[in-house]
Amino acid sequence: MTPSTTIPRHIAIVMDGNGRWAKQRFLPRLAGHKQGVEALRRCVSACIERGVRVLTVFAFSSENWNRPQDEVSGLMNLLAGALAREVPGLSQEGVQLHFVGERASLSDKVKAGFAQAETSTAANHRLILNVCFNYGGRWDIAQAAERVAAQGLPMTEGNLSAAMALSHVADPDLLIRTGGESRISNFLLWQTAYSELYFSTALWPEFGAEQLDAAIADFATRERRFGQISEQIKHSSQQRVVA
Ligand code: IPE
Ligand code: IPE
Ligand code: MG
Repeated sequence: MTPSTTIPRHIAIVMDGNGRWAKQRFLPRLAGHKQGVEALRRCVSACIERGVRVLTVFAFSSENWNRPQDEVSGLMNLLAGALAREVPGLSQEGVQLHFVGERASLSDKVKAGFAQAETSTAANHRLILNVCFNYGGRWDIAQAAERVAAQGLPMTEGNLSAAMALSHVADPDLLIRTGGESRISNFLLWQTAYSELYFSTALWPEFGAEQLDAAIADFATRERRFGQISEQIKHSSQQRVVA
């Protein structure tokens, strides 16, 4: 098999474990989130090097507003700082940024940062980086349904897919969750219908190229059947080789 058939085109990640990483070191939780930004930066470069085309990360869920107020405001400040600092370098690496989630309840500063980052990286094409912020899978399905209804269209799978917040990319091939929990936590409920799932015990701040390679190697061993049986998959891949 050539590497291009085994490297997932679209990887989605639930970046979990920042708080525990900090706690283990007797540090405030925000220190874990800061290291989490570094881990994301490393992961973006590693994805580009490996030929991954789309990376979608869960940075702040609809439910994360329920955390202590100082953690929420710390995360908002961290986001604003990271945007200002990281966007030029990401753009230089060829990253096209998208912020995915409900924006109305975010501050004007964050909204302006999102718009600026998206505009300034729109012409880049090496890696699409979707940062899911104030995102929830249920919110996404509900807002898609509202849009389809407002357009007066029938509520079909195709029309809903086209109205979902990630309609600019194909569904994730591989979903990674770090931090040892085996749950989706309201991430991409619609889009992960056929994603391969990979759970890592590494805490997000310690996730790097080595752990990414382990996830990709595991993905390469999976047979994606999409409802078919094994023989059909083998037969069609043989036909592709002959063709
Ligand atoms: C994930 O790390 C980051 C966010 C949810 C913002 P956590 O903060 O959930 O870390 P743990 O799960 O408490 O270790
Ligand atoms: C999921 O992690 C959300 C993000 C990584 C942004 P959580 O830490 O919020 O998930 P639960 O609460 O443990 O399910
Ligand atoms: Mg967590």
